Amino acid sequence: MSITLGFDVYGTLIDTHGVIGELEKIIGDDAARFSQIWREKQLEYAFRRGLMRQYKNFSVCTRDALDYTAAFLNHNFSDQQKQTLNSAYSTLPAFGDVIAGLAAAKDAGFNLYAFSNGQAEAVHTVLSNAGIREYFADVVSVDEVGTFKPDPEVYHHFVRATKAQLENAWLISSNGFDVIGALAAGMKAVWVQRSNAVVFDPWEYQPTLIVDSIRDLHRKIDRWQIGETKS
Ligand code: LAC
Repeated sequence: MSITLGFDVYGTLIDTHGVIGELEKIIGDDAARFSQIWREKQLEYAFRRGLMRQYKNFSVCTRDALDYTAAFLNHNFSDQQKQTLNSAYSTLPAFGDVIAGLAAAKDAGFNLYAFSNGQAEAVHTVLSNAGIREYFADVVSVDEVGTFKPDPEVYHHFVRATKAQLENAWLISSNGFDVIGALAAGMKAVWVQRSNAVVFDPWEYQPTLIVDSIRDLHRKIDRWQIGETKS
C-alpha cells in the first residue's frame, strides 16, 4: 500500500514572511505588520474568489492583497517597489526543517507532491529557488480546476491527479483551513504546528496527526498506520 503526501506550499514548506527583509528596506519597522496583513488578505481574496466563482490565479490575489495592504497602512509604493515585492514571492525561503523532512519522507518510500493554491509554474519556481523541487514527483495546482482551497473539488482533484487512493492520501499543512478542507473531503491530514502561538480552529474536525516540524513526519505517519492496523 503506497502513501501519497500532498505538501501545502506557502506557509508550510515556504515561509511567506521571508518577504519581511525586502519590506524593511522600504517601510522599516512596519514590515512585519505589513507582511501579516498582506498574507491574510491574500488568503481572504482566494476564499472570496472561490465562493463567488470568480477565479483569478493566486498571483492576482497576491498582487491585489499587496495593493490593499499598502493603501490600508498608508504606504505609497512605486510600481518598481511593487514589482520587487511581488517578485520576492518567487524567492521565498523554505523553513529550516523542510529539507531534512522531505529527504527522510522520500527515502521512507512515500510519494511526495507539492499541492498549492499557486499556479504550477510559480510553484515550480519557488520550490527550485528554495532548493527543494527535487523531492517532489510533481506539482498539483488548484489552477487546474479553477478554484481555491478549501473547496472540496481541489482535494478530489489532488487525489485524481496523483492516482492515489483517498484513504492513503495525506495533506501536510500548517494552514488550519487547509487541514480541515482535506479532512472534510475524506483525506488524512497532518497539521504542522511550528509555534505554540498558533491555534487550531475549534471546529468538528481534528487533524489526523499534529507535528511541530516535518523532520520526523514519516515516522509519525508510519506509527499511526501501525496503530490503525492493530486496532
Ligand atoms: C497554498 C496556500 C494555502 O500554498 O498558501 O496552497
